[in-house]
Amino acid sequence: MKSEHYAHGDAFQSEKRTLFSAEWLPLCAEGQVANAGDFLSATVGGWGVFGVRDREGAVRVLRNACRHQNMQVVGAASGNCESFRCRFHGWTYDLQGRFLSAPPPVAPKDREASELHLASLSTSIASGIVFFSLAMPAQPPGLGGPLAAYGGTLTTEIACNWKVCVEHLLAEHTPSSDFSWHWPLLAVRRAGAVTIVEQVVPHTFLRTRLLTHVFGSAPDDHKQSAATIKHVCERLQADRNEGKPAIASPLVIAFHSRLADAYAQDRATT
Ligand code: FES
Repeated sequence: MKSEHYAHGDAFQSEKRTLFSAEWLPLCAEGQVANAGDFLSATVGGWGVFGVRDREGAVRVLRNACRHQNMQVVGAASGNCESFRCRFHGWTYDLQGRFLSAPPPVAPKDREASELHLASLSTSIASGIVFFSLAMPAQPPGLGGPLAAYGGTLTTEIACNWKVCVEHLLAEHTPSSDFSWHWPLLAVRRAGAVTIVEQVVPHTFLRTRLLTHVFGSAPDDHKQSAATIKHVCERLQADRNEGKPAIASPLVIAFHSRLADAYAQDRATT
């Protein structure tokens, strides 16, 4: 993997066109949107999306792009609301993303047109994690069955490329009953009754968010571990900037192989 793949926006755009447009991507833990009206927004691989639970209890993931002029509808990272009102000109949507109303000066001519609703993405929930996809991958995601009770989520902002974070999570492990990697953005660690789901969120090419979802334990017990991951990843990013390669463990090699396939696919189509 060349150093520019860790430090330049071109690689991120290629990843956005290929794997982030085609794979199931994790958004959050289902417990983060536990109640009707709960929402959580994020930029994942360059795509602005938000997840929301409606009044019937269903969770869906929607594009965070207003149907009026394509601006961001949800500005807050998370919260609870009755409806979503775009702050730019006031178009309003319900908890399922359906167009409700707009002020008269900017109201659409045909208020019943289906293209007024926010774009709803393929959504799937597996082992308490909400996934979405911009395409329709053949297989729904799976994490190997139900986990212990959801304890909470730690959020860690890391100044590194998302691949540095994935490599670090994979480097010291081999697949086993206690560790599994779920391409492209999840690693699951089990220790007795406790399961940690590490979710890598590629925010921009040099800003990564790590969501540490804790099942069967309190999240505060894992704060030190998350802080260590941040420290190590930021040091590893400096190494990549200097051209030092990642540790070539079997899982990191497998990760690079799938990335190489994605880059080749992008070259073939652009
Ligand atoms: S862009 Fe949302 S109301 Fe105009």
